[in-house]
Amino acid sequence: MSTINYSEKIPNNVNLSEDRTLQRALEQWQPNYLSWWSDMGPDGSQNFDVYLRTAVSVDPQGWAQFGHVKMPDYRWGIFLNPAEQNRKIHFGDHKGEDAWQDVPGEHRANLRRIIVTQGDTEPASVEQQRHLGLTAPSQYDLRNLFQVNVEEGRHLWAMVYLLHKYFGRDGREEGEALLERRSGQQDNPRILEAFNEETPDWLSFFMFTYFTDRDGKFQLCALAESSFDPLARTTKFMLTEEAHHMFVGESGVSRVIQRTCAAMNELKTDDPAKLRAAGVIDLPTIQRYLNFHFSVTIDLFGADESSNAATFYSTGLKGRYEEGKRVDDHILKGQTYRVLNAVNGKLVEKEVPMLNALNEVLRDDYIKDSIAGVERWNKVIEKAGIPFRLKTPHKAFHRNIGALSGVKVSPEGQVVSEADWARSVDQWLPSATDRAFVASLMGRVVEPGKFANWIAPPAMGINRQPVDFEYVRFA
Ligand SMILES: [Fe+2]
Ligand SMILES: [Fe+2]
Repeated sequence: MSTINYSEKIPNNVNLSEDRTLQRALEQWQPNYLSWWSDMGPDGSQNFDVYLRTAVSVDPQGWAQFGHVKMPDYRWGIFLNPAEQNRKIHFGDHKGEDAWQDVPGEHRANLRRIIVTQGDTEPASVEQQRHLGLTAPSQYDLRNLFQVNVEEGRHLWAMVYLLHKYFGRDGREEGEALLERRSGQQDNPRILEAFNEETPDWLSFFMFTYFTDRDGKFQLCALAESSFDPLARTTKFMLTEEAHHMFVGESGVSRVIQRTCAAMNELKTDDPAKLRAAGVIDLPTIQRYLNFHFSVTIDLFGADESSNAATFYSTGLKGRYEEGKRVDDHILKGQTYRVLNAVNGKLVEKEVPMLNALNEVLRDDYIKDSIAGVERWNKVIEKAGIPFRLKTPHKAFHRNIGALSGVKVSPEGQVVSEADWARSVDQWLPSATDRAFVASLMGRVVEPGKFANWIAPPAMGINRQPVDFEYVRFA
């Protein structure tokens, strides 16, 4: 007989203490998860007491409990949003039928693939970010990094729960494989390319949490529409956490910009060399980081024409962003969508069946959403009276997936030759010099209330604590 008090150790609303099969699967998996965390989780931080929020239930009082905890003792829980009575499938060929409480045999392979692909991104980002704690610009930022890390860990738990509960032995094997792949490792890499890139510095981290965690939001929103009800309910709860990750990114970049603008006004210069000498990140470098993270992230939505995307939609596995708010037939047969193509060195629009273009539809929704935050960054620059504006690059810029991967396109959307690309790429994407400069600024600031020179303090602290609160107690 097991003596583990499950609801204490693994907060959950999936009736874990009564579910012997699930207990057995998780009991096998959890030690491997903890050993993955100790190998690949935040470097050198196992003994820190960190002011973290933990979800202990899905109601407003329980989903965000704050307190100092050591990260290996974090209570990674399993939560589903409350069930909707008599939920119906609301798109695709099964529209109007009851939502599935179990996995239909014919959709098993595709659903497993979708869950594994989502699940794989969660530990990947923890691996990508594991050295950042060593160069945190403040305790406040260090705490935010760790919060993101433990929640990505919980998102892995959420996906592994689905695999264990609904996919039997295959699911358990996939659960193990999720702990075995490694970001950036050549022989066993993470599934998606952006999750094999390094996150080498804090500007990259803020750009990643702004742009790439937002990809997470859009994928989760599409899965929250799924006919497979446990997947829909799991991803809905994950979205509550994702919002904070994007906040970390948006406010982080905003504070970098604010500090740079203050230095520009103090020194009365926009000369990158002078600003770099003053220890802040010049706006053109910020623009190049933005170009990089935006372009790498929009590749994550996949090929612009995809028969898989059509299948996932028609069979009811994955909906569109805000499916319920759209006014069309939610079946989409016979409808078309315009995608961008490269023909003889020119960008041309092409009309394709809507169902095959659903990756592009989601990518376009994402682009709209990500532009909004860039405009909020521009407000900071405008307020400082500086005539510079950040801009998301053209959709065809620096693409590696789909029809646009075959052409070289400038951030403004001009097709350019290979030679022009090579000549200009250092103006468009972070160069080795840019990256070395940003890396040179990274130094550890740990005194409460103190911030590195290249970033402004936040307007307020976490959970209404003061900015100089002791967010991390070092052992
Ligand atoms: Fe996540
Ligand atoms: Fe996230």
